[in-house]
Amino acid sequence: MRDCVIVKWGGSLITDKESMCTADIEIIQSLAAVAKQCLDEGLDLILVHGAGSFGHLRAKHWRLNEGLLRSNNFNTQPDCENQKQAVSIVRNEMLTLNHEVSKALVELGLKVSTKPPHKWARNTGSNFDGDVTKTFYDYQNSICITFGDVVDCDGEREFGILSGDDLVVRLCKDIPNVKRLVFAIGGVDGILKRPPSIAKPSDLIEEWSSGMNFEGVHNSEIDVTGGIGLKAIRGSEVAQLGIEVLIVNGSHPERVFSACIGENVIGTRIIA
Ligand code: IPE
Repeated sequence: MRDCVIVKWGGSLITDKESMCTADIEIIQSLAAVAKQCLDEGLDLILVHGAGSFGHLRAKHWRLNEGLLRSNNFNTQPDCENQKQAVSIVRNEMLTLNHEVSKALVELGLKVSTKPPHKWARNTGSNFDGDVTKTFYDYQNSICITFGDVVDCDGEREFGILSGDDLVVRLCKDIPNVKRLVFAIGGVDGILKRPPSIAKPSDLIEEWSSGMNFEGVHNSEIDVTGGIGLKAIRGSEVAQLGIEVLIVNGSHPERVFSACIGENVIGTRIIA
């Protein structure tokens, strides 16, 4: 059986996070080329991508991460009047971003198979309900892609945000031959000892295990999910399964490739 690598492309890496629904096509194409190189190396690859400016801004405005709220204290938007409309708009926005991702891979001659979470997953967190092995049945014949999404939830919440960082944990648990998990993030080289704005190269934490302190960026003005803190926690859950976990700067695609094939690379390795 071939080794499988799960790769998460962070939303802030593949979109311009400040500007609504703007994909960074150049970076997406360079990461797609890395995906092709990985297949050429004989790896199976499952791709998970984030939302960035395609999901977070509107999800934040409509507080979709909190589920259905009785309060109607929302400022309506020209194209959206309530939370339920926002749910379907964000789902469509995610499909639009996914289309850009798929297109870049298909243009390189790769076969892709997209699995939008709102169609097969329910509830949030890494213990969400959904049959991963059945849904990803074809991961050895094509690049299966999934992404952070708004999913239906039980009870009065009705919906919530399932982060790509939760999806990767379940993929690592349920897909039998996963060898490593690579988080390609935007703007930073990995987990840093100090805030990124003042950090020097020597502030990169090369090996991180849970309990070690760090200064992450979590732009809670924009993000509805957990930022680097969530990646660190989810990463250490995965490391406990005996799977290698790396966080690398995705603006350097060659680092993403090295991480995927198991070479030494600038970044943070998460250990159990
Ligand atoms: C967020 O998914 C999904 C939505 C806001 C709809 P992620 O948590 O995986 O996204 P990024 O990587 O932080 O953008």
